[in-house]
Amino acid sequence: MIIAPSLLAADHACFGKSAARAAKAGADWLHLDIMDGHFVPNISFGPQVVKAVRPLTKLFFDVHLMCNKPEILLEPFARAGADEIIIHVELGEQVEPLIWKVKQLGKKVGLAVNPPTPISLAQPFLEKIDLLLVMTVNPGFGGQEFIHETLPKIQQAEAWRREKQLRYQISVDGGINFQTAAECARAGADTFVAGTSLFGARSLKAAINKMRKIVNANDPALADLKV
Ligand code: DX5
Ligand code: ZN
Repeated sequence: MIIAPSLLAADHACFGKSAARAAKAGADWLHLDIMDGHFVPNISFGPQVVKAVRPLTKLFFDVHLMCNKPEILLEPFARAGADEIIIHVELGEQVEPLIWKVKQLGKKVGLAVNPPTPISLAQPFLEKIDLLLVMTVNPGFGGQEFIHETLPKIQQAEAWRREKQLRYQISVDGGINFQTAAECARAGADTFVAGTSLFGARSLKAAINKMRKIVNANDPALADLKV
């Protein structure tokens, strides 16, 4: 199970310190939200910030592109230090060539699906991706409420993975707190992106430890072993 704090919820005056803090607190990955003001009604930060933070931590950089023209951004983020680049399935015909471009850059590739979008749109790409991200809020802002109607999409993603014997990770992002993380783990998620509930906690370390305990306790695979 992967715990990935989202830097969007950290103090924007010290992204570097926040990234190093997340590593020290026991995070597995760092989730980096890239918003262009078009794909979503918000602007976050660019490759320069990722490049500046990169030398400060060995954490795996999970770069989430919420952008209308990701094709112009893949190389700058790859060079800046991204380990994985996530694109959105809502980009339609661009998705296939973008997946190949990310792979050509030697990075892992993720595919994100927004709450209103049917998970079936991701099906043609399942063999080609390293991670399937089920958005659990409408993208664009941190601090939003978890959308419970997205839980069946996580279950479907897990069922496909099992039936087709695939290895992609199943990530969830948006409104993930101790309660919703447990629900997502039971549904089959294994990667948990959380901003407010981690960077907003008094102790980042305690919050990460608690979330890890909760998702492990609700991991269906471990539950089977206990029987
Ligand atoms: C939203 C982003 C999320 C967000 C999560 O568009 O993709 O990563 O930062 O923040 P919380 O956990 O506060 O909902
Ligand atoms: Zn995100």
